[in-house]
This record gives sequence, C-alpha cells and structure tokens, in this order.
Amino acid sequence: MDSIIVTGNGPLKGQIAIAGAKNACLTLMPATLLSEEPLTLTNAPRLSDIKTMTTLLQSLGAEVSQLQGGQVLVMSSHALDNHVADYDIVRKMRASILVLGPMLARDGHAVVSLPGGCAIGARPVDLHLKALEAMGAELELKDGYVHARAPGGLRGGVVDFPIVSVGATENALMAATLAKGTTVLKNAAREPEIVDLAQCLRRMGAQIEGEGTHTITIQGVDRLGGATHPVVTDRIELGTYMLAPAICGGEVELLGGRIDLVGAFCEKLDAAGVSVEETAKGLKVSHKNGRVKAVDVVTEPFPGFPTDLQAQMMALMCTAEGTSVLEEKIFENRFMHAPELIRMGANIEVHGGTATVTGVDRLKGAPVMATDLRASVSLILAGLAAEGETIVSRVYHLDRGYEHVVSKLEGVGAKIERVSDR
Ligand code: EPZ
Repeated sequence: MDSIIVTGNGPLKGQIAIAGAKNACLTLMPATLLSEEPLTLTNAPRLSDIKTMTTLLQSLGAEVSQLQGGQVLVMSSHALDNHVADYDIVRKMRASILVLGPMLARDGHAVVSLPGGCAIGARPVDLHLKALEAMGAELELKDGYVHARAPGGLRGGVVDFPIVSVGATENALMAATLAKGTTVLKNAAREPEIVDLAQCLRRMGAQIEGEGTHTITIQGVDRLGGATHPVVTDRIELGTYMLAPAICGGEVELLGGRIDLVGAFCEKLDAAGVSVEETAKGLKVSHKNGRVKAVDVVTEPFPGFPTDLQAQMMALMCTAEGTSVLEEKIFENRFMHAPELIRMGANIEVHGGTATVTGVDRLKGAPVMATDLRASVSLILAGLAAEGETIVSRVYHLDRGYEHVVSKLEGVGAKIERVSDR
C-alpha cells in the first residue's frame, strides 16, 4: 500500500484544474442501461471508483471504452446478457446499487447484491427499494441480494421520501424515465449531481421537470436514445482544494470552479476570513499567512454545507483562532479523521455527531492513517500546514475520489510525494 508524505512548506501559489464529479459520473454511467444507443460522457474523472463502475457495467454485458486517458467514456448496452450485479463488485463501491433502477426499468428484472455498510455508516438502501416498489416493482431479499421484478414494466407512482437521499433519488429518477405514466418524487435530493443526471437523461429523450427542487416530475417514455454529456465539475474536489490556500496561506485559482456549486461552503470560508473571488477561469482563493477565524458548521443536504467537505473543514478549524462546533447530521460515523488529527496536535472533542475543535497555533507532522475517502484528504490538508513531515498511509482511499493529488498540490508549491510502503 502507498503512503503520501507532506511537509509543511508555507504559502501556495498557482492554479489547480478541477475534474469532473465522481458522484455525478457514478450515476451517469448506469444511465447507459436505460438505452440501446451509445451514451458518451466527457470530462469524466480518472478514479478507481470509475474503474469499479466500468467493471460492473461490463459484467452486465454493457460495453464501456475509455478514450483520452479515461476522460471520455463511450458506453453502450444494446443487449445485456447478465442481470446480476455480483457482491464481489458491489461490496467495493456502494454506488453499484444505482444499476438496480435502470436495469429493472429497461428489462423488467434485476438482481443486485445489497451493498453492505462502509466506514462512515450503515448506509441502508431501504429508500431505494421503497421508491421502486412505489413504481410497481416486486422485490424479494434473498441471500444478501435484492431480486427485483416488474413483469409488465414499471408504472408511474408518487414517491414521498421520508428523508433526503441522493442515491435513492437517482435510482428512482432513472427508473421513472421508462415507467408507464407519470412519477412524482417528493422531498427529492437537490444536489448538482441530480441536476446533471436529469440534464443527461433529457438529452437521451426523457421528460423531466423540477430537478434541483424538492419535487421532480417524470413523464415515462417508451424508449430512450443515446447522447453525449459533459460530467459536471466536482464540487467536493473544488471545495477540498479551496481549503489548501486557506490552511497554509497563499493564493490558488481553481480552474473550472463554479460558485453556485459551493455556495454554503463559501459562506463559511468568508466568515472564517478567507477571500474567494470569481475569475474568468474559475474561483480564486487567497489568504494571507496566519490563522483563520473559527466558524461553526452543520452538514445538510444541498444547498446546505456538504457532509463530503466536513472532514476537510475540520482540518482548517484545527488551526483556526477560537472554537468551532461541527455537527455531522448526514452520517452516523464520519469523524474518523478526528483521532488522526489529534495525533498531529489538534484539540478536538467528539461527542456523538458533534465535534468541538479548539484551534491551535501550529499542527505537528506525524504518521497518520487514512480511514475513508474524505478523511484521507483532510489529513493531507492538515499536513500542508503542519510543522515537519506528515505520512498519510492507506492512500488507496484517496485514489477513489481524487485524481493526481500529488501533482495538483506540487503544482502550487506544496512539498508532497507518494511512496510505496517501505
Ligand atoms: C451520496 O451517497 C454520495 N455518494 C456520498 O458521497 C454523499 O456523502 C451522500 O450522497 C450525501 O451527500 C455518491 O453519490 C456515490 P444518501 P448516498 O442516500 O446516496 C440514509 C463521497 O465521499 N439513507 O443521500 O449513499 C443514509 O444512511 C460519498 O463521495 C437511508 O437511510 O447518500 C444517510 O444517513 C460518501 N436509506 C442519509 O440517508 C437509504 O435507502 C443520506 O444518504 C439511503 C440513504
């Protein structure tokens, strides 16, 4: 397993290009199952999760080819020869559950392994299943697999989500495009990745209204065609790298950054005293050397503060002036970065879903361990500001969601290298 060594090296300066969104690409790719025509995605990120989704789609009989080093994905599933999404693949990546809705909508049957939990929580899929049942699906749980059938095809229905769920909204949205009649999704997720999916489905011929609001209405059609669609910018990668000049000073322009994708996050950076400016090429973040001000954070569904930026924000708050209270309200166990940050001298107290962080003048480099995707990158951010050397182990977590972290940060002056474990 590889490690990444970061040495605090003062202010950063330069530009970082932001890639296409992992969490958009992971729902756009299964959309190919809805049509017999080719679906091409441009601006696709080059990540291990994308490779896992590619393997899953290919195991179902879809063809997936990567052009331009993986930035373009050309997919077609004119004939699926397997309708079973195997546990071996699904257990590696929860987003695999997103093949269920499309496969069921198109062919009337699907068998998908339950994804199982992950480090940050139990991650149930009950809302996905309830949504499909509301569209007439017959579901049976057997030996850890969901056996789904819709003999006469899915029919339009009303899906009223008791809590906002990104994945369940995506599964239901895709399934509804081919259901007979009208489907209404109430209390739908409003994330930019949902809007991106709806725009892609519309290019394929779907009839959708209301994406980005709490109510999405879909008029089913008989079939969908092919399309070419650019993956939306990754707002989580964007927010992550915006924190780099915030935590160790300097000025960095994030190419492709869009302020509408990170509204709530930018409000917190502004309150902390970090300057964010829109430029012709994206967003420029600057902060003189010195400590930012502590701010409180509560994670919420979009357009609230994203849970996927909570760990990274905690790293910044560890060096802030004052005390910050971070409330994680989306997942039940998403503070695993806290003990690692404490090893670097941070002052953090965790009680249930609340972490109280009292900023310290300077963190100290130390060997730390990545536990999940976003925790891993929060340790790298902390290492940028720490005195001395921080060694982050188990960086395979990082490869799931961040392409070329070392070269992107090296490009703005960070002292960072990747080594194979000795
Ligand atoms: C998506 O996960 C993202 N993953 C997550 O990003 C992100 O943290 C999350 O949305 C919230 O924004 C992808 O898009 C691939 P949810 P998802 O369904 O869809 C509960 C990352 O770091 N819930 O919105 O799984 C669930 O336990 C990853 O890139 C149910 O109870 O999230 C959680 O508490 C991590 N039943 C809450 O809802 C269900 O059927 C929100 O989960 C589904 C979810």
